[in-house]
Amino acid sequence: MDWTNRKVLVTGGAGFLGSNLCHALAARGARVTALDGFLFGGGANAANLDGAAVELVRGDIRDLDLRSLCEGSEVIFNLAAQTSHMGGQRDPLADIAVNAVAQVRLIQAVREAAPEAVVVHASTRQFYGRPHRLPVDEEHPVAPPDANGVSKFAGEQYWMLEHRVEGRPVVSLRLTNCYGPRLRIRDARQTFLGIWLRCVLEGRPFEVWGGDQLRDLTYVDDVTDAFLRAAEAPSCYGRVFNIGGAPPASLHELAGILVRCAGGKARYVTREFPADRARIDIGSFYADDSAFRAATGWAPRTGVEEGIARSLDWFRSRFAAYL
Ligand SMILES: NC(=O)c1ccc[n+]([C@@H]2O[C@H](COP(=O)([O-])OP(=O)(O)OC[C@H]3O[C@@H](n4cnc5c(N)ncnc54)[C@H](O)[C@@H]3O)[C@@H](O)[C@H]2O)c1
Repeated sequence: MDWTNRKVLVTGGAGFLGSNLCHALAARGARVTALDGFLFGGGANAANLDGAAVELVRGDIRDLDLRSLCEGSEVIFNLAAQTSHMGGQRDPLADIAVNAVAQVRLIQAVREAAPEAVVVHASTRQFYGRPHRLPVDEEHPVAPPDANGVSKFAGEQYWMLEHRVEGRPVVSLRLTNCYGPRLRIRDARQTFLGIWLRCVLEGRPFEVWGGDQLRDLTYVDDVTDAFLRAAEAPSCYGRVFNIGGAPPASLHELAGILVRCAGGKARYVTREFPADRARIDIGSFYADDSAFRAATGWAPRTGVEEGIARSLDWFRSRFAAYL
């Protein structure tokens, strides 16, 4: 697809994944509007859009006039979400207000203001719950382990319903743990790797909880590539896809890689999983993403060693903006 001059809306555009996507779209010549409500505890950071020719609209999908925002959009990348698992457990009403109720608001606005728009929705592998088998394909039963998983599944399903009933071209990408530049690293709210990177950059030991769990991390450039390919491939419309990443590695192995990337100087300690988190933990996970690979030719290009090394380098020179 030639993105030049295409009118594109990215919800959650100042967040981690949304801002990386905005940079890529702007570099391809698209006319990009990033909508973000800068929600407390999320990955929004004004510095994320530094250097990108993108119009930033600060607003909340729960109450903003979405019709005028969506007017004329050809492609909508829908990444705005309440992403905290513990946050969703503590306040499920606030969680569902963003991840499900506001999604229905957005669907109605898009129906009226951008009837032709292609929508790529950011979904999650979280709602499969504790895997019954590995790798997890799209046929795996859904059993959300927490309130956030319920609301994200509901949001995705409203979008898929819009495809089935109204014929809207919608693709939903069920993402695994993503990492890379523009990740929220100031605390542990966005992927364990965020706080690990911060600790390493500050010369402090980081904590590994448990350690044997397997994860298939996706480097952010590969996530961006997946979003662009999903929008570009009509054969994807009306489908949900798992997006995996690097070959599965345990948290202990990932910690070892981070230590090596930091020149062997970093240290970590292993801790028991905190009891409140253990109750909603999904254990080991890695995705079968062969359906998306077959549909689009996508494959993750960045290995974990390279991705972690690049992330460390990127944050080193911008550390203050991310604390
Ligand atoms: N990062 C991951 O590892 C991962 C994994 C699975 C799924 N996802 C999904 O990808 C999407 C992006 O995640 P991310 O990691 O970039 O998170 P993020 O927190 O960095 O980005 C989400 C953005 O949405 C914004 N937002 C939230 N509620 C909003 C509202 N009501 N109105 C307007 N803006 C609002 C936040 O301010 C934030 O900038 C989310 O839908 C998330 O569920 C991410």
